[in-house]
Amino acid sequence: MKNILITGGAGFIGSHLVRLMVNKYPQYNIINLDLLTYAGNLENLRDVESKPNYKFVKADICDIEQIRRVIADNQIDGIIHLAAESHVDRSIVDPFSFARTNVMGTLSLLQAAREYWTSNSRDSKSGGATGSSNPFEGKLFYHVSTDEVYGSLENDGSFFTEDTKYDPHSPYSASKASSDHFVRAWHDTYGFPVKISNCSNNYGSFQFPEKLIPLFINNIRHNKPLPVYGKGENVRDWLYVEDHAAAIDLIFHEGKLGETYNIGGFNEWKNIDLIKVLIATVDRQLGRPAGASLPLITYVTDRAGHDLRYAIDSGKLNRELGWSPSLQFEEGIEKTVKWYLENGKWLDSVTSGEYQKYYDSMYNR
Ligand code: NAD
Ligand code: TYD
Repeated sequence: MKNILITGGAGFIGSHLVRLMVNKYPQYNIINLDLLTYAGNLENLRDVESKPNYKFVKADICDIEQIRRVIADNQIDGIIHLAAESHVDRSIVDPFSFARTNVMGTLSLLQAAREYWTSNSRDSKSGGATGSSNPFEGKLFYHVSTDEVYGSLENDGSFFTEDTKYDPHSPYSASKASSDHFVRAWHDTYGFPVKISNCSNNYGSFQFPEKLIPLFINNIRHNKPLPVYGKGENVRDWLYVEDHAAAIDLIFHEGKLGETYNIGGFNEWKNIDLIKVLIATVDRQLGRPAGASLPLITYVTDRAGHDLRYAIDSGKLNRELGWSPSLQFEEGIEKTVKWYLENGKWLDSVTSGEYQKYYDSMYNR
């Protein structure tokens, strides 16, 4: 494989994955395809944008003609698909955008890749002379998904495994579940070469400050209220984003075709406990007295359909491919808080929409 398309590479996880792939694999051409929605930001990739094996293409995954062109122009062999609408709260307000991007966008990519790989296989070019019966040899479509497709767990010590029945509750998780089903259907129907991973909540640098951790760091920084949904008793399983990117790299190269892998850190936190760790860390790093920001905690109306608990069993990935998270949570949070406090300009620009105006003019939107 030589030419790899990463969709959503200007977003949070995508930018970490693009950085890893561009730096680690100079023999690959990495093509980052992103629409640059509010969540996509090329600032996230300043350090790799001038590398010879990196290229950015602005395109919409829902526009199949654009996708066909990008795949053909760049002779794409492998796709790692991350582009999505990703925030549960937005999905409650605007479910159609989630169905459009996450379901129809994934479908466009699957279809365009299948057409291209089928019509450009070595066998079809040689008029069947090579005798190869598999047009997808050396090709791969890797779909990046979420643990939220599995629904919600009770506080009973259970975990999501790869065999857990899908039971999505939010428009976001319903759209991701639907896209996962289409990816599997492509494998089962057309013999299309797929891999899927379902990961727990990520945290780290370059996450858009609408998700819990960067939102709260930013609010503490500005002495703004911290809106805790319900009683703050919901549980999430947190993984450092670079560990997720490393897992994707490993599965992309060594995972089995047609398989699903769960990725998680065995690192469950009740929201309110996590928020207290965040407050203590931000206060200490800002030189404020311990507990100074605790009064910012504000309990607000619960999110509609709020899943109680997510917990991932990533045992399969560990047993079969030897992956485990590299970072302890305390260390990850320390680094993450430090990054946001040192990158206040990034936080201010993404929240003010300044970067959007810049890229709108740059890419002539
Ligand atoms: P993000 O919202 O930060 O980034 C999404 C990216 O997709 C943005 O750069 C955006 O511009 C791009 N995009 C959106 N619509 C597009 C379209 N129509 N065409 C092309 N590009 C488009 O998301 P993220 O948190 O980095 O998540 C990336 C993927 O990982 C998603 O598929 C998400 O479901 C999955 N995931 C996320 C988490 C998490 O905790 N953030 C956990 C597990 C899985
Ligand atoms: P979030 O970062 O949106 O991720 P997800 O909903 O995909 O798990 O939220 C993480 C948890 O934090 C979730 O239980 C909802 C809660 N939450 C709040 O209490 N307040 C907030 O302002 C946000 C954004 C989230």
